[in-house]
Amino acid sequence: MGKNLILETMAREMQTGVVVFDKNGSALYANPFFLKSFPPVSGGVEGKSVFECIKSERLLKSVEVFLKKRGGASEDIEISDGTRHFSVHIVPIKDKADFSLILFLQDITEEKRVETIKRDFVANVSHELRTPLASIKGYSETLLEGGMDDPDTLREFLRVIDRHATRMSRLIDDLLILSRLESHQMTIVASPIDPGELVSSTVSGFQKQARDKGITLSVILPGELPKALGDRDRLEQVMVNLLDNAIKYTPSGGKVKVSACQEDGFIRVDVEDTGIGIPEGDISRIFERFYRVDKARSRELGGTGLGLAIVKHIIQGHNGRLHVESAPGKGSVFSFFIRACG
Ligand SMILES: Nc1ncnc2c1ncn2[C@@H]1O[C@H](COP(=O)(O)OP(=O)(O)OP(=O)(O)O)[C@@H](O)[C@H]1O
Ligand SMILES: [Mg+2]
Repeated sequence: MGKNLILETMAREMQTGVVVFDKNGSALYANPFFLKSFPPVSGGVEGKSVFECIKSERLLKSVEVFLKKRGGASEDIEISDGTRHFSVHIVPIKDKADFSLILFLQDITEEKRVETIKRDFVANVSHELRTPLASIKGYSETLLEGGMDDPDTLREFLRVIDRHATRMSRLIDDLLILSRLESHQMTIVASPIDPGELVSSTVSGFQKQARDKGITLSVILPGELPKALGDRDRLEQVMVNLLDNAIKYTPSGGKVKVSACQEDGFIRVDVEDTGIGIPEGDISRIFERFYRVDKARSRELGGTGLGLAIVKHIIQGHNGRLHVESAPGKGSVFSFFIRACG
């Protein structure tokens, strides 16, 4: 088989952009992947300048140095147009008096995205742990420096320490649940469950919390509901997280209503509140880890912004659906749908 055919096939099939420039910086050749990633404004790339092919000042600078020197060692740079990121391997080739440059461009947008998520995640976790830890340290130091003499102060400070320690351990529990869900170590084991029982029992667990805050918490269930196909424990977690939010973000005197019904082969559960609501622009983001509409307010209420991220993962694991309707100052309805049996 001819070498040219092999080389041509490689250039055509590789998932890396390849573009070659002559000694004057005019394009000689580009492979299909390059043309797909950087479509020329008109025609092909042949004869076009480096900047016409790739709009990057950073790349242009490097290429100009190579063209001026007519040589040098190969170089690796990264370029970005704001949304996409490419790693560019620039290789000069010299053949007697002739000279050209081959550029290999690899799309690293996804790697960059994951890198950013990881970095933000570590920053968020550290920040969320530092706040309660600083309080625990501050209060225990005060006690050790003599604050223990007054029993009332002692009790009050210990309570604060206990509250912050609880918060830290909740944060770690939530992080572990999320990481297990994301790495699929926590599998969803679906079996027929009674949705009415799930709703009633989780709501009962919140009656005291609602009463203490002066919120009316009620349940509306139809006479008969088919079984749902789900993981009882995980769905209980969904209910707990939604109810916790509904009560937390509803001022005293408000109402929280939970209902379930059957809809197109699904069991639909609605958790409705008359609380503060969510601005439209934030609705698409509240399921992201650590996202809170009002950071200071949520944190004061003990929230870290992980509850809905967990809800989203569990419902996705059930191949179910989530829906949110909300109006600031009026209230919110969080609905989830999971398959009914039969
Ligand atoms: N029922 C609701 N009413 C108004 N805002 C809500 C409601 N549910 C969630 N939100 C908003 O969405 C954000 C994210 O909710 P999520 O449950 O993920 O986090 P959190 O309640 O702040 O903390 P955590 O659940 O980890 O304790 C909240 O901070 C709040 O701003
Ligand atoms: Mg929450």
